[in-house]
Amino acid sequence: MKKEGKKVLLLDTGNLFFRKPLQTETKRRDALLRVDLLIHSYNEMGYDAVNIGEKDLMMGVKFLSDVSQKVKFPFVSSNLADKKTGKVIFKPYVIKEISGLKIGILGLMDDQFAPSLQERDPGLSILEPFATSKTLVRSLRENCNLIIVLSQLGESKDRKLARENREIDLILGGGGEAKKAVVERVNEVPIYRLEPRGGYLGRIDYSLVDTKKPIHFLISGERDELEKKLERLITRSMQIKSDIARSGKQEEMRIKELKFLESKQKELEKTLVALEDKNFYRHTSIPVQLSVRDDLKIIKAVEMYRAESAKLFKPILAGDAGKEFPEKEIIARIPKESAFLGAISCKKCHEVNYRNWLKTKHAKASQTIIASPKYAQEECLICHSTGYGKIGEYATVEEIPFYLRGVQCEVCHGEGRGHPEKGKMDRKVTLGACRNCHTKDQSPTFNYMAYLEKIGCKITK
Ligand code: HEC
Ligand code: HEC
Ligand code: HEC
Ligand code: HEC
Repeated sequence: MKKEGKKVLLLDTGNLFFRKPLQTETKRRDALLRVDLLIHSYNEMGYDAVNIGEKDLMMGVKFLSDVSQKVKFPFVSSNLADKKTGKVIFKPYVIKEISGLKIGILGLMDDQFAPSLQERDPGLSILEPFATSKTLVRSLRENCNLIIVLSQLGESKDRKLARENREIDLILGGGGEAKKAVVERVNEVPIYRLEPRGGYLGRIDYSLVDTKKPIHFLISGERDELEKKLERLITRSMQIKSDIARSGKQEEMRIKELKFLESKQKELEKTLVALEDKNFYRHTSIPVQLSVRDDLKIIKAVEMYRAESAKLFKPILAGDAGKEFPEKEIIARIPKESAFLGAISCKKCHEVNYRNWLKTKHAKASQTIIASPKYAQEECLICHSTGYGKIGEYATVEEIPFYLRGVQCEVCHGEGRGHPEKGKMDRKVTLGACRNCHTKDQSPTFNYMAYLEKIGCKITK
């Protein structure tokens, strides 16, 4: 976008640095490496403002203050305050100027987290977000043409914020328990929330034509519809005209339709012309896929992070891989409550299948993502490991237990617990089972029969 010459404002809704409590020293050290990586990348991308979420305070407010010295962008938080003085700790808002537009940006966090934050930082408080933002918005309005709130309040409180404050031009929501993207307007205020976990980039285009104050932006959806309609009308008219020309006859029905279409077209054009000098905004969300080209500088930083991180986790990985343990001991380390047992448990009875499977790419599918620059995304695990989200025994690459790494036998044959004593294993594996992972996007060259030959099991069909 920057290369296209567009003026860009890059914003983040917060909870950037940490995801889950840092229970072990290794995880803590890995998190620190990741914070450095994020600082580097966000500086490099030229972020304009980043909100603070409660998880950003996981290592204490002092830690975040130190980080704020290293970043080239401001942290905004309109309601994270010092308990004693009642004063906010970071910037309560920032004002950016783009193409003559003054844009005020606020950041809000949810005050329900105050008690848990105070356990670590007794000197902190979180001001009530609704009243605080109302006062700020009122005073910013005098000076700004556009007011954006970066919110960690969660879905229902974002709606309340919009209902109570028509003066806000845009709410960008993060936080809460949201599982999916949201695009809505409440009280005319647009609220946008992306799919969680960083798989998407939200983009909002503002086009400024009419600079008379006060500046208003209309949502572009209706205009887009009208334009599409106009296009359809024109196509249809041309079709009729060419039909008439071809047949050489002036059929009454066709002429009538043509007249009708032309009058409709004029109407539409009039409406569209009337909209020409208005300002519009449009929202899109862009999936960040493997096909998106990487930035060389950032990819280098990611690779460095990966190498350092791998050093931290190496002892665990090597131990888990089980090379230095006798097989019995490895099997003994599979939890008794797990429905999945891992390929190693099948080995003693299905030696051939096991040995062949070890040679397939399925066996190494988790290593592949660790070696890939985009591996940190949990989204990869759905296909590059076994039982992700189904048996809930892990949530990150580092946490995958050894018997669930890669695409194990049980992905195709089902749970191994109880077999062979109680249950016959399902021999039937269908094309649909492969398609769960071998989607058009991820496996464009997939061919059922050809791929079956390469999975290491004897096929009878
Ligand atoms: C203690 C030995 C033993 C273990 C361990 C074992 N199996 Fe089996 N498996 C058998 C026997 C015996 C049969 C054939 C009888 C039956 O179908 O129940 C069988 C049948 C199967 C079949 C069906 C084959 C067919 O021709 O219908 C599949 C698939 C299978 N096992 C997969 C697995 C997987 C995957 C594991 C590991 C999670 C596993 N087995 C662990 C003994 C075992
Ligand atoms: C919907 C399932 C799915 C998801 C999600 C997925 N993959 Fe894959 N991936 C596959 C399949 C299937 C293949 C094998 C494709 C083939 O050989 O036909 C593959 C192959 C690969 C390969 C090796 C082939 C190559 O292109 O070099 C890499 C590396 C890879 N994936 C990385 C990732 C990463 C990183 C992520 C997360 C950002 C990811 N994948 C997410 C299913 C998935
Ligand atoms: C990618 C899916 C997939 C994986 C992974 C997989 N299998 Fe299979 N397996 C199949 C298919 C497909 C068949 C053939 C079914 C048929 O003939 O209809 C099969 C057949 C079998 C059979 C019966 C035929 C034979 O080869 O004796 C056994 C036993 C078996 N698999 C065990 C295993 C074991 C053990 C593992 C892990 C070490 C494993 N499978 C991994 C898909 C898979
Ligand atoms: C749980 C997800 C998952 C399922 C289900 C699955 N695969 Fe895969 N498959 C993968 C991934 C991921 C890779 C890429 C491994 C890598 O290189 O990291 C892969 C790779 C392969 C490859 C290697 C392709 C190559 O480039 O050599 C073959 C062959 C294959 N799968 C066949 C199958 C077949 C056939 C089925 C269905 C019976 C199946 N897979 C089911 C995830 C899956």
